[in-house]
Amino acid sequence: MNAGIDAISFYTSRYYLDLKTLGHARGVDPAKYTKGLGQEKMGVVPPDEDIVTLGASAAKPLMDRTRMEDIELLLFATESGIDQSKAAGLFVHGLLGLSPRCRVVELKEACYAGTAALRLAASLMARTPGKKALVIASDIARYELGSPGEPTQGCGAVAMLVCANPAILALDEEAGFHAEDVMDFWRPNYRDEALVDGKYSTRVYLQTAVNCWTQYGERSGRKPEDFARFCYHLPFTQMARKAHAQILRASGGPTDAETVARGIQEGLGYNRVTGNTYSASLYEGLASLLDGCEADLAGHRLGFFSYGSGSMGEFFSGVVQPGYQQHLLTQHHRKLLESRTELSFQAYEDIFNLKVPTDGWDYVFAQYCTGPYRFGGVGGHKRRYEEVS
Ligand code: HMG
Repeated sequence: MNAGIDAISFYTSRYYLDLKTLGHARGVDPAKYTKGLGQEKMGVVPPDEDIVTLGASAAKPLMDRTRMEDIELLLFATESGIDQSKAAGLFVHGLLGLSPRCRVVELKEACYAGTAALRLAASLMARTPGKKALVIASDIARYELGSPGEPTQGCGAVAMLVCANPAILALDEEAGFHAEDVMDFWRPNYRDEALVDGKYSTRVYLQTAVNCWTQYGERSGRKPEDFARFCYHLPFTQMARKAHAQILRASGGPTDAETVARGIQEGLGYNRVTGNTYSASLYEGLASLLDGCEADLAGHRLGFFSYGSGSMGEFFSGVVQPGYQQHLLTQHHRKLLESRTELSFQAYEDIFNLKVPTDGWDYVFAQYCTGPYRFGGVGGHKRRYEEVS
């Protein structure tokens, strides 16, 4: 029985910084960000949003598309964990009011964790027709102020319902994967900001893409022309252009800018204005493609390359299902992105420098604009979440 994505919802914070503003403030030609990296804006989380509120807000619109009691699995993928022990998914389970008869767990392998969650959920759901898994990938990308990584920050979450006979995308069995113990990007437990060997990380990403594609090709016999579009993990959109060119080159195909763009263009739109959403970014790209592609993709195969630093990569694929358009949240996504508030550079730095207090006293956080849920404060070392009325 086939299994895959039945519904997909994306959410990002209500605030962003224009990268031209960042460029002017840092004395960097903004074209380096807009052309060199291919980014326009980056999402900024206010103090009362975190991976739980981002993830729950992404999942909320999916809840009226399914019966709560059918959700028997919640996999929460993140590398922006808020607790060493408790799964962030359990806070989401509570906020959404899911059934107690639901397995909940948090998964980690940098940006690859969203894919691990999707693949695990699909293989379990293929064996339990009628039941659904809720897969949430939610992250906040943070680098040091003034560092080369700063313009590649961002935030967002994707929630997906996964089941047998899905309405949007049926996953293929074949996959190519590659694991390697490298230090290209990491975040020790005592740090809020990631450490990265930037140029090296891009080289590992590209080599991993080729390795995964090669194994996928050996197993499936498919070639680039068998795919209508490709989606890539998106630390920034130019990365996808480079990776797609590498895969086409490895297959002996043309690698001119037009051919490369044709394979990936519609999938880049959301990431360009949110920045890196780590574990969510590949699926943010899928939402962007499905929402933005004028051609009918029904019956066509999509290719996916997922990359998580450290490092783990996977190339896999799926077939878009007939009538998928009726199941998309296109207008909701567009409204969300169009209705955000632009921050001044000073406001961005002020928000960046605010930290969650760690002394165990009671704190109530100022109310910023959020989605349907907010991180209201802490007390006794416990995080407190609330619905926004
Ligand atoms: P950098 O060293 O500041 O930038 O950092 P650069 O000098 O390499 O310039 C970037 C591009 O802009 C270059 O283009 C320049 O030529 C161009 P390229 O040669 O690459 O084609 N450029 C300009 N273009 C137009 N006008 C100008 C101009 N100036 C320069 N005036 C770097 C870039 C990506 C390394 C940095 O932003 C960084 O460290 N980012 C964080 C790490 C990262 O995103 N790595 C990506 C691969 S690893 C990954 O994807 C995993 C990750 O998501 C984490 C996870 O898995 O959890 C990060």
